[in-house]
Amino acid sequence: MKLRMFVLLSALVLVALALSACGGGAGSPAAPAKSAGDPAKGKTRYDSTCTACHGADLKGITGLGKDLTTSTFVKGQSDVALVDFIKKGRSATDPANTTKVDMPAKGGNPALTDADLGDIVAYIRSLQK
Ligand code: HEC
Repeated sequence: MKLRMFVLLSALVLVALALSACGGGAGSPAAPAKSAGDPAKGKTRYDSTCTACHGADLKGITGLGKDLTTSTFVKGQSDVALVDFIKKGRSATDPANTTKVDMPAKGGNPALTDADLGDIVAYIRSLQK
């Protein structure tokens, strides 16, 4: 009985290892643990697009955007997931929306590239509490 449990657990661990080994998916390199973006470039992008709602200090403007410095959501996301989130935004009708105010896709600036968003994420991370 105990041996069976052990074999089962070992098998699970092996599966988990195998899955994490190819976590990058679709041949892309695995996500870096630390943000690969450039926070200085990110600040420039942030200041021109996100500051209107999230404020120059990232603390959020009441009724427009949330505080990003203390956001547990931001903390809990990987850089890749966060870039993905900013790309899509979170509409007021999304059940996950907490303020009933729209977070527009790319902050309403479709010109922002994935690299720009990666830089912005690095900037946000640099100011996280
Ligand atoms: C027009 C206003 C507006 C602009 C511009 C805007 N946001 Fe937002 N953002 C919001 C709102 C409103 C929310 C909160 C949505 C909710 O209630 O769940 C939000 C949420 C977020 C969140 C999730 C925070 C959390 O704790 O859930 C992130 C991250 C974020 N915005 C990043 C950005 C970035 C980066 C930019 C610039 C590229 C940007 N936003 C531009 C309004 C805006």
